[in-house]
Amino acid sequence: MEEKNYILVTGGAGFIGSHTVVELIKNGKTPVIIDDFRNSSREMLNGIEKIVGSELIFHNIDVSNKNDLAAIFTKYSINGIIHFAADKAVGESVNNPLKYYKNNIGGLINCLECALEFNVENFLFSSSCTVYGDPEGSTTVTEESPQQDANSPYGATKQMGERILSDVVKSGVNLKVLNLRYFNPIGAHESGLIGELPIGRPNNLLPYVTQTAIGILEKLTVFGNTYNTPDGTCIRDYIHVVDLADAHVSGLDWLEKQSNSTFEIVNVGTGRGTSVLEIIHTFEKVSGKQLNWEFGVKRIGDVEQIFADVTKAKNLIHWDAKKSMEDAVRDAWNWEQKLRND
Ligand code: WQD
Repeated sequence: MEEKNYILVTGGAGFIGSHTVVELIKNGKTPVIIDDFRNSSREMLNGIEKIVGSELIFHNIDVSNKNDLAAIFTKYSINGIIHFAADKAVGESVNNPLKYYKNNIGGLINCLECALEFNVENFLFSSSCTVYGDPEGSTTVTEESPQQDANSPYGATKQMGERILSDVVKSGVNLKVLNLRYFNPIGAHESGLIGELPIGRPNNLLPYVTQTAIGILEKLTVFGNTYNTPDGTCIRDYIHVVDLADAHVSGLDWLEKQSNSTFEIVNVGTGRGTSVLEIIHTFEKVSGKQLNWEFGVKRIGDVEQIFADVTKAKNLIHWDAKKSMEDAVRDAWNWEQKLRND
């Protein structure tokens, strides 16, 4: 029987994790999903199973529970780890920093200790463009662009996570690490069976747009239109979540080919900047619906504009984003409608 290529996917029931599980299975890997459903639901696992047409390996585990986590490594011969499980609400992290340091840093350390204990060499870390802070003046960031002090405990856990991984590799252990810095993931699987499940009031733009359009929320507020950008609203690098998922498959393939320990950082974005107003206009075009929105004051902590230089992603892991902004907005809207109709 062919040796199974078990890949531990922590947070695999989450927004990016679930889409990555689908792409891993499509590419012949066997994900072992662990999740404690703090920011997702079993429904997402059902959606994945419908898409891939097979049963998933899932364990309801909190990564900050070391014993439960270690038991997974004795049960399965894990070949790689993709570590998504973390709390990610910027605002919440300001009000509850200890929750973020305990879960995001504690969970990473548990995963790393297990990786070393059970000789797992391939490790992908879910990082974020938040580590750059506000790239004042320059709008495109490369992996070498300077980092600023994180403006939230959430962002600090990503910067610390990268530092921990880099120090562990430098200590001479047998570990290959790829650190993916996500820009702004949006959209959903084209089937509408999995997508972004914001619990409570969404913080991020796209779920706010689709929940306003479907009538759950009354009106979208555009946080500021006096920025120094062409239409006055903030610019981001919005990447289709399926393209982002594919970057993990390409990244894992690259890691498996490396013979020596390594620590590499890669920006995962489209390389294109899109403003808030452009997102709204794209939504109205693909949905045929008029969105109820108004300009409001700037949101504290927002960066004026940032988008990725994706040269390294192309050259190192041979990956680039394939889907368009319209694909992402259309898929996000399709998901919202299916979610509410079911
Ligand atoms: C995008 C733009 C808002 C809502 C955050 C995290 C980052 C990553 C992605 C985890 C901004 C504007 C938003 C609204 C608006 N998360 N906006 N009205 O802040 O770029 O990044 O999510 O990894 O780490 O920092 O994303 O979607 O919140 O905002 O005008 O109701 O949309 O001002 O310009 P952000 P976002």
